[in-house]
Amino acid sequence: MTMTPTGPGRPPTPEENQATWTAVDDYFCQALIPGDEAMDEAQRSSAAAGLPAISVSAAQGKLLHLLARSIGARRILEVGTLGGYSTIWLARAIRSPGVLITLELDPRHAQVARGNVDRAGVGDLVDIRIGPAAESLAALAGTRPQPFDFVFIDADKTSNALYFDYAVRLGRPGTVIVVDNVVRSGRVADSTSRDQAVRGVHDLVSTLAASKGVDATAIQTVGTKGYDGFILALVGDGSRD
Ligand code: SAH
Ligand code: DHB
Ligand code: MG
Repeated sequence: MTMTPTGPGRPPTPEENQATWTAVDDYFCQALIPGDEAMDEAQRSSAAAGLPAISVSAAQGKLLHLLARSIGARRILEVGTLGGYSTIWLARAIRSPGVLITLELDPRHAQVARGNVDRAGVGDLVDIRIGPAAESLAALAGTRPQPFDFVFIDADKTSNALYFDYAVRLGRPGTVIVVDNVVRSGRVADSTSRDQAVRGVHDLVSTLAASKGVDATAIQTVGTKGYDGFILALVGDGSRD
């Protein structure tokens, strides 16, 4: 990817900004994220099956992977599977013995993801549950499972607060929770926004602001996927309240 030089004496256009962000992602990814046939195939087969190209980027996938690995995660919960690209990054972080449960509304997405995680060699670790995540989470909570160490929330943005609430309930002190797509090209700063996805972030942030026992930050990002960001939260043990 070649850089687009900006013209003299004028600010870069949005297209030029995006070209720069993509070039920088390409530069770091080529150096730090070796080509991986299973990952590439997951993206190819998802595109071929007509799934939207909205997975995390390679750089973001590797961040999730490193975060999960750095806490020695054995039990990972993901809300929003799509074709399983982020699923593979996270499953490859699991310290054995472990499991990744991922929740997906669309059976077609789940079917594509099943093929992708199997081809990537992590099929035995990954349990894909089909249906509205709110229902799958209620059912999961009903089984009183062992706590999850890491949770990635990346489904319908309107239900962010509900999913986060479940993530805390299904976690333990020390559980790390990441919520994708909380910036949306800056639209999150518009407190009067009627965009349902932005409202979903506002609901989540209000919940977080009021919640004792969960510490969080939000990081804005640019890259191949444009301008967005994520929330990183840590479930506490109450000792800092
Ligand atoms: N985490 C994936 C991308 C997920 S895209 C990756 O980075 O590779 C969001 C996914 O959430 C889509 O597949 C969509 O079908 C799913 N989704 C939307 N609404 C949902 C719901 N109510 N319950 C579960 N999944 C949902
Ligand atoms: C969308 C969803 C995502 O999870 C994402 O990372 C980017 C875009 C979307 O629904 O547009
Ligand atoms: Mg996302």
